Amino acid sequence: MHSRKQPLFVGEKKRGYSMVISDTIKYVGVNDHEIDLFEGQYVVPNGMAYNSYAILDEKIAIMDSVDAHFTQEWFANIDQALDGRKPDYLVVQHMEPDHSGSIHRFVENYPEAKIVASARAFVMMKNFFGTDFADRQVVVGENDTLCLGSRTLTFITAAMVHWPEVIMTYDSQDKVLFSADGFGKFGALDVEEDWACEARRYYIGIVGKYGVPVQAVLKKAAGLDIQTICPLHGPVLTENLGYYLDLYNIWSSYAVEEEGVVIAYTSVYGNTKKAVELLAEQLRAKGVKVVVNDLARCDMAEAVEDAFRYSKLVLATTTYNGDIFPFMRTFIDHLTERNYSNRTVAFIENGSWAPAAARIMKGMLEKSKNLTYTAAGVKIVSALNEASTAQLTALAEELCGEAAAAQPAAEVGKKFVCKICGYVYEGETLPADFICPLCKRGVEEFEEVK
Ligand code: FEO
Repeated sequence: MHSRKQPLFVGEKKRGYSMVISDTIKYVGVNDHEIDLFEGQYVVPNGMAYNSYAILDEKIAIMDSVDAHFTQEWFANIDQALDGRKPDYLVVQHMEPDHSGSIHRFVENYPEAKIVASARAFVMMKNFFGTDFADRQVVVGENDTLCLGSRTLTFITAAMVHWPEVIMTYDSQDKVLFSADGFGKFGALDVEEDWACEARRYYIGIVGKYGVPVQAVLKKAAGLDIQTICPLHGPVLTENLGYYLDLYNIWSSYAVEEEGVVIAYTSVYGNTKKAVELLAEQLRAKGVKVVVNDLARCDMAEAVEDAFRYSKLVLATTTYNGDIFPFMRTFIDHLTERNYSNRTVAFIENGSWAPAAARIMKGMLEKSKNLTYTAAGVKIVSALNEASTAQLTALAEELCGEAAAAQPAAEVGKKFVCKICGYVYEGETLPADFICPLCKRGVEEFEEVK
């Protein structure tokens, strides 16, 4: 398995420009440490990278431009990489301004160069810049090619990964896929950090709604011999590509990546929080992986990412103004607009005179596909009491599978506890071939409860 620590290239930590991907492909992108919110909403504590690449052949192609704040730095990187030569083409794979922001300046700076893009991208150029560069256009579609001399680039349409005009580009000579936003992540390239964590937050937040188009592109990619992936954000991927492809397959098919319970909550005066803490404690005592997010204080994108990562979700909130607490409404909206599905969901509601939060939350999830709701739920009237505490315990048991796995009530009062996860087996004797339904250990890990 890959270490998941991924600088620009495996085994190297580099910054700046002129980084060589192959003998003839160089990195000419930029790092942005000035940005406060990416796409106006995502915190990026380690900044962003706007990747761009120069393919040097008889003809020279530059792959995408960069955010408008970095045009001069990008030009300097191109000039250094090209060493006195001039680009013949700018390939525009994606028109979102983090990549298209310097196209018009490129056209001015390199008056001989042509622009290669999809027809929809040229429409967007007209809308962004007031011109579609009609005298410089090379319009490409599915499987169209562009010969640069010794190599030929093939274009792959990738509509809605993440905008409709997107194309990806395959270089069969160096076996490189230029993947547009695909396989991108938050974070500048001069900061080393975990790949999957920020790639997942990026994917779920930005591309998560478009699982079906991503699956379609993955199918096309499966037919290519790819040794390097050059995305528009984040590091160039050169090793263990199966690791990244597998994660993309999981994320885009809305499959569970990891078993565990995410508890997302809001609490006005701490009573709902108390219930959440008690549930988390009970689950952890049973060996369940638990992640708790206070939606008023955490990074919402991280909470959304967690909901898609793990198998089970507990939503805990108060009835508020005849609705639910605003952060929870926002959170559920984020889930449903990204096609949240294929998970188990439970509700904890709090209300001092007319609790309605569980009904409202369930209603908000109505369009989500393949959700399983727990039989157990928790209704708190102002603060935990004996009844709601018992409901919490029942919910904890159901979430860790005990209710489903429970044995018929033991006629004889012997109990055997799994030392690994706390599962309790009730019966006169523990069968020799018994396997713990929670942690899958054998009888050697059980001891009788005296
Ligand atoms: Fe990195 Fe969709 O722009």
